[in-house]
Amino acid sequence: MKQGMRKVLGCVTGGLLLLFAGAALAQGTVKIGVIAEFSGPFADYGGQILAGMKTYLKMNGDVFGGKKIELIIKDTTGAAPDIAKRLAQEVVTRDNVDILAGFGLTPNAMAVAPVATEAKKPMVIMNAATSVITTRSPYIVRVSHTLPQDAQPIALWAAKNGIKRVFTLVSDYGPGIDAEGAFIKAFKAAGGEIIDSVRTPLANPDFAPFLQRIKDTKPEAVFVFLPPGSQTIAFIKGYEERGLKQAGIKIIATGDLTDDGVLEAMGEPTLGLITSFHYSAAHDSPENKAFIKAYAETNGTRLRPNFMACAGFDGMAAIAEALKKTQGSTDPDKFLAALKGMKLNSPRGPIMIDPETRDIVQTVYIRRVEKVNGALYNVEFDKFPDQKDPGK
Ligand code: PHB
Repeated sequence: MKQGMRKVLGCVTGGLLLLFAGAALAQGTVKIGVIAEFSGPFADYGGQILAGMKTYLKMNGDVFGGKKIELIIKDTTGAAPDIAKRLAQEVVTRDNVDILAGFGLTPNAMAVAPVATEAKKPMVIMNAATSVITTRSPYIVRVSHTLPQDAQPIALWAAKNGIKRVFTLVSDYGPGIDAEGAFIKAFKAAGGEIIDSVRTPLANPDFAPFLQRIKDTKPEAVFVFLPPGSQTIAFIKGYEERGLKQAGIKIIATGDLTDDGVLEAMGEPTLGLITSFHYSAAHDSPENKAFIKAYAETNGTRLRPNFMACAGFDGMAAIAEALKKTQGSTDPDKFLAALKGMKLNSPRGPIMIDPETRDIVQTVYIRRVEKVNGALYNVEFDKFPDQKDPGK
């Protein structure tokens, strides 16, 4: 045999051996039931979470601790706690999943928590951000954020930057009530005054009367939490059309308002808006650049990756690292022990799972909406490192 040919054959055999070794390593699967919103008004929540998870698997392969990852996708169709609970029971009993994951909206996560406890399944929250969720099951770990964690820094920043009188407007459910509470507490403690507060319904709110009331009370700023999507678009449109901006009323908010996935749809009126948040697609780091590139290669460019995609990616990373530590075991006590105290270099910056609370510790950034290369981005310009959920 010619020298060259022998070399080629050697490589092929080596490649086959490697392939074989890879297959032999993956002894069995780990099934993850991904329960999230894949249709209806919050369809992008599930879409972003899953896209983030797939991005991690594309970059890192799908075998960890000798187990191959299998995703079983279930659609809650919206804020539908009864459906979420039924789907969780279904994936546990019929599909025999080892781990529950996903959960864009708080009511869905809350409904599934008792299922995780009863079935003793690790449950990884990839968005739902009401503070209390992690206390609802000892098997819950959260890799996303909490509203108090994100809201406190903007309260401190506003007070330090000369804003004294604020009106608050939040969505009338868990994360909104948490955001309102944390903002008011921190803002008042820093010397600020709350003029008035309103809560708007989660389903189909009409912002017109609220915007008029805000205009009439003439605060220096309105603090806002709304779940991103049609509501944030409607709010910004109404703010512009009803002349609140011209009246000199500023908006301050958590970054849910200027979500990367919706920012372009809200358009120019968002320019200059200042928010506090744990993730921006504009975050300047090698990890984020690699994430953004792989996200587009894996999922296409219809959506810009947002904080939910980042949490999907980090949630998958946390599961992968835990599997490596437990050598593929999903025994709930071993798996939770592996997750507690875990540190990761996320696209958003360094993160840690607090071993006491199973909630995330992370940097919260202050950002301003600016045009970068012709597109709208949240450009970070200040930061509050090592932020815990302040209520815990
Ligand atoms: C939630 O329902 O917990 C939730 C939804 C959207 C957000 C944040 C929290 O941006």
